[in-house]
Amino acid sequence: MAKSASFSCSECGGIHSKWSGRCEDCGAWNTISEDTPLTAGPKSKGLGATRGLKIELSDLASEDTPPPRTNSGMAEFDRVLGGGLVPASAILVGGDPGIGKSTVLLQAAASFARSGLKCIYVSGEEAAAQVRMRAQRLGLGDAPVQLAAETNLRNILTTLEAEAPDLAIIDSIQTMWLDSVQSAPGSVSQVRAAAHELTSFAKRKGISVILVGHVTKDGQIAGPRVVEHMVDTVLYFEGERGHQFRILRAVKNRFGPADEIGVFEMTGAGLQEVANPSALFLSDRDTPTAGSVVFAGIEGTRPVLCEFQALVAPAPAGQARRSVVGWDGGRLAMILAVLEARCGIPFAGLDVYLNVAGGLRISEPAADLAVAAALLSAREDVALPANTVVFGEISLSGSLRPVGQSETRLKEAQKLGFANAILPERSKTGAIDGVTARQMPDLTALVGDVFGAG
Ligand code: TYD
Ligand code: MG
Repeated sequence: MAKSASFSCSECGGIHSKWSGRCEDCGAWNTISEDTPLTAGPKSKGLGATRGLKIELSDLASEDTPPPRTNSGMAEFDRVLGGGLVPASAILVGGDPGIGKSTVLLQAAASFARSGLKCIYVSGEEAAAQVRMRAQRLGLGDAPVQLAAETNLRNILTTLEAEAPDLAIIDSIQTMWLDSVQSAPGSVSQVRAAAHELTSFAKRKGISVILVGHVTKDGQIAGPRVVEHMVDTVLYFEGERGHQFRILRAVKNRFGPADEIGVFEMTGAGLQEVANPSALFLSDRDTPTAGSVVFAGIEGTRPVLCEFQALVAPAPAGQARRSVVGWDGGRLAMILAVLEARCGIPFAGLDVYLNVAGGLRISEPAADLAVAAALLSAREDVALPANTVVFGEISLSGSLRPVGQSETRLKEAQKLGFANAILPERSKTGAIDGVTARQMPDLTALVGDVFGAG
């Protein structure tokens, strides 16, 4: 029988049965290469010819103590991990090149080392002297972190085995290579094999590993998606280049809540933690401005207030633009359609720009109502009353659906000096001490009552 080969794309990780110049899944050119099997297994002779060992089974009621966690002392980093580092866990930290992955991990390594963990930082991208210089510039020169510049994974694993650290940071997985895999570093086969070796090593030896992964243009970890499945925790380091705010977001976590965020600010002295993100994402709001609406959101387990800004302007005939930063373009189209179909507010012939201030990315449907309010406010040139927060989900019928944790949202608003809230009628919590609530059944109510339009 002919040997069945498999080919994968280094952009999206898509698997194909034959080679081609262009990946059918993501459309990238020259990214497909043949996979080399991890190990040459014994020739299959059907089940029964080579029998495995019987594995031990246990029942769900068996008592296991929860793993002891170690706090780094960087509260925002520990928060994203779900309350500190779990021993023998494998973590992937992804992000655009230059966003600050190496910086935040060097700072985290220094914090962990200072709180007593044995940490090794392996850089495949920078020389040890470069990393050392950066550490000294960040005031971390005295932290007991062990450094190495190496890309040969076999040497790294041997060293880690001999040194037995508590935590090893591998920066980055795309630079690592195994001599048993015959393709270039950074290729799908290499990244997959290296990640597999490192994660199974972590479990076997009880060493936590943090892998750094670069992200492609379309926002995926470069190389195979499958790395995300191998690790326990996937964190994304996000932020707009022009902004100094950086957000570490847990997109997967076997040991804690996903969607938790840690907020940092990039300064000349490295990344500083931001303990009160709401204050940071709200711009100066002394005078109410048309088109600007404050959304009371929830990121992970914590409430975060942020500002939606909309601008609506006449468009050249037939060329209306919709431009979104920090929110989903499809969702914006839906809200524009609901406003037009259910409330009779057309946006045809108008350019629409929507922006979340501060470089935050919002994915909650609870932001629908804030977006609609920002669009209406911009279109009608009417500012919402000062000190108002808005939240609620919009359905296609134009009715408003209550969203979770309304009390938490309102309390955060009250803490930051907001006195008014606009929210769906059936929300669990309406007004609270110090915050007046305007509860609305549908979008038409918002259009009529608040903006006097429709
Ligand atoms: P880096 O951690 O090297 O990014 P990555 O590992 O994700 O590629 O961060 C590089 C950027 O961070 C670089 O553009 C400079 C900036 N930076 C600061 O602004 N302040 C600092 O103290 C440091 C160390 C970096
Ligand atoms: Mg780096």
